[in-house]
Amino acid sequence: MTKVPFIDFKVTYNEIREDLLKAATEALDSNQYILGPAVERLEKEVASYLNSKFCVGVASGSDALYLSLLALGAGPGDEVITTAFSFYATAGSITRTGAKPVFVDIEPDLFNLNLTQVKERLNGRTRAVVPVHLFGNPCDMGALRDICAPAGVRIVEDTAQAFGATWRGKQVGTFGDAGCFSFFPTKNLGGFGDGGMVATDQEAVYAKLRALRAHGSRKKYIHEEFGVNSRLDAFQATLLSVKLKHIDRWNDQRRAIAEIYRDILHNVPGVVIPTESPEARHVYHLYSIRTSRQDALQAHLKSAQIDSAVYYPLALPFQPNLADLNYQKGGFPVSERMCSEILSLPLFPGLDRDRAVRVAECVRDFMTHGA
Ligand SMILES: Cc1ncc(COP(=O)(O)O)c(C=O)c1O
Repeated sequence: MTKVPFIDFKVTYNEIREDLLKAATEALDSNQYILGPAVERLEKEVASYLNSKFCVGVASGSDALYLSLLALGAGPGDEVITTAFSFYATAGSITRTGAKPVFVDIEPDLFNLNLTQVKERLNGRTRAVVPVHLFGNPCDMGALRDICAPAGVRIVEDTAQAFGATWRGKQVGTFGDAGCFSFFPTKNLGGFGDGGMVATDQEAVYAKLRALRAHGSRKKYIHEEFGVNSRLDAFQATLLSVKLKHIDRWNDQRRAIAEIYRDILHNVPGVVIPTESPEARHVYHLYSIRTSRQDALQAHLKSAQIDSAVYYPLALPFQPNLADLNYQKGGFPVSERMCSEILSLPLFPGLDRDRAVRVAECVRDFMTHGA
């Protein structure tokens, strides 16, 4: 029985190993290890890929969110609306600014923000909304902009899981005031350590972000405003430039694996497969199915040497370090149900057809016959 890991970098790494080693040598020889020409080059390449005016490299996706919110003025006394169902960093970056995260539930089919609830929670204190393109699935950015623009509320897109996804043909991360990307190794465009980037079309936001990532300095050794150390390494940037050339092909591979899963699982009783909006190009950072038999299915897959994972077992409003916000159980029924139903199957570029079919058939057979 061939083991199927949840993620394996080996295939894509081996495909481009020579180019990476050449680039790594170039980075080590360059004599400049933080920011500098390699980071500027990556910022330009990503901006050109996204069709965004500016990009700013930072130390992580979490910092991309935090610094973007700061750049847009979020702070104590403000509210920032976001989804109850995401990775913790989405909420943590809001609390780091001193603003209050205001959670809304998700749409069950798309895993993304419930826009009716976003509208209901808007008030005079709302500084921004942070939509998350969860699992690589774009939010309805047109509808969100229609809600936010008249209220003067800013949008910071959490695009950590969706590099290369589009909504109506436009790259996600370019709809809001700022689009935040993570280069964490498992991400669709993953580096070899931590890293992140913010895309924006606004020159003032760009200039502010550049100062914020460098201790609030716009001129060397003159620190006019608050800031932190959140710089992207030249080494990461050099290697990411190599990987960026392959992102569309790798995202296509992710979509092809999703297609195999869809073909085998779409009619299986007790399994809900991910939905794609016709307006969106989903890039399947994760392929997450829903089942009321989450634990049993995961154990069965494990016995068949297939890894799977639960993203996420606890909704954000109930994270222990947000207990002061006093959110009550039952307030986010869809997100809460998701935590006990969701199961992500292995999906990564380089996962061959045979193993993908084995995964899907194993799910199908268990859900149909219990084995
Ligand atoms: C939805 C989401 N937001 C934010 C982040 C934070 O990115 P990073 O790990 O690069 O800080 C991640 C990934 O870890 C994520 O999945």
